[in-house]
Amino acid sequence: MHRVLIENSGHTFDVRPSQTVLEAAIQAGINLPYGCRNGACGACKGKILTGKVVHDDYQGNALSDAELATGMALFCCARPLEDLVIECRQIEAIQGIKPRILPVRIQSKEQLTDDVMVLQLQLPATESFSFMAGQYIEFLLKDGRRRAFSIANAPHESGFIELHIRLIEGGHFTAQVFNELPVKTILRIEAPLGSFYLREQSDKPIIMVAGGTGFAPVKGMIEHMIFNQSQRPVMLYRGVRHVNDLYMDALCQRWTQFMPNIQYIPVISNGSDQDGWQGRRGLVHQAVLDDYADLSGFEVYACGAPGMVDTAKETFTKQGLPDEAFYSDAFTFAPQ
Ligand code: FES
Repeated sequence: MHRVLIENSGHTFDVRPSQTVLEAAIQAGINLPYGCRNGACGACKGKILTGKVVHDDYQGNALSDAELATGMALFCCARPLEDLVIECRQIEAIQGIKPRILPVRIQSKEQLTDDVMVLQLQLPATESFSFMAGQYIEFLLKDGRRRAFSIANAPHESGFIELHIRLIEGGHFTAQVFNELPVKTILRIEAPLGSFYLREQSDKPIIMVAGGTGFAPVKGMIEHMIFNQSQRPVMLYRGVRHVNDLYMDALCQRWTQFMPNIQYIPVISNGSDQDGWQGRRGLVHQAVLDDYADLSGFEVYACGAPGMVDTAKETFTKQGLPDEAFYSDAFTFAPQ
């Protein structure tokens, strides 16, 4: 067992030999920022001030060799070899919400496009379940693997969890969801997870950038804001390849009709002149750059494929967005 001290907060916690720094912190109720929990997104990056760690496998775009050499680490895959003193990018209390392992029952399945299924999971009636709009769950599969999906509903809609599941080519679990698992199947999840959630203490206007099923957590955040009658301006940019991929388009249109602070800008990247689309075309992050020459007064919430999220961050910060005003959740696919 090794002890970790977070220098900038004074918190300490113990890490068992089988645990990563992040797993132990979550178990101790200490909120380090994180996203994928498998070394792919870089959200959990922090600095080791003293002590040594060994890393499990991770992706080079999440932590470069140069960063590693200066003492940076990915806490989701770093295992201490001795006691540590670390520094973290941020530590925020998520209203005392700790993740738990729960059984859930598939309540309904609705296929909305060729490759998007909306799943409703019923939570145990005896357990209360709290989460922040935008967080995610992980399915705990029988073979020990985990699969992460964002929660698409808002916290006030209790008793169930809505997920938007895209069929991944060669993805065993998503193929099962589409073709096998019937309604009433019981699955196990760990939830809620992740530090991609709506920061409600700010009143800055929000630009939301959602690629594909990255719409799910953004939907949860917007429905949460509507429930709370938030007047913060929200500009929702949704990027999809084809017109047919724009599931729940009517819902987004409806939001704008009764909430004048919400704007909705769908952007199609791979359409053709024959598809009848009258709206914006191109890449979704570019639409934001075209519309806002100065992003310094905004907060951005971005969710989608890692390439889109990385490009958005890089280009938006060049256009004035402060680093700390960019919140993201990149879909990552856990190594098989
Ligand atoms: S790299 Fe650690 S949470 Fe994504």
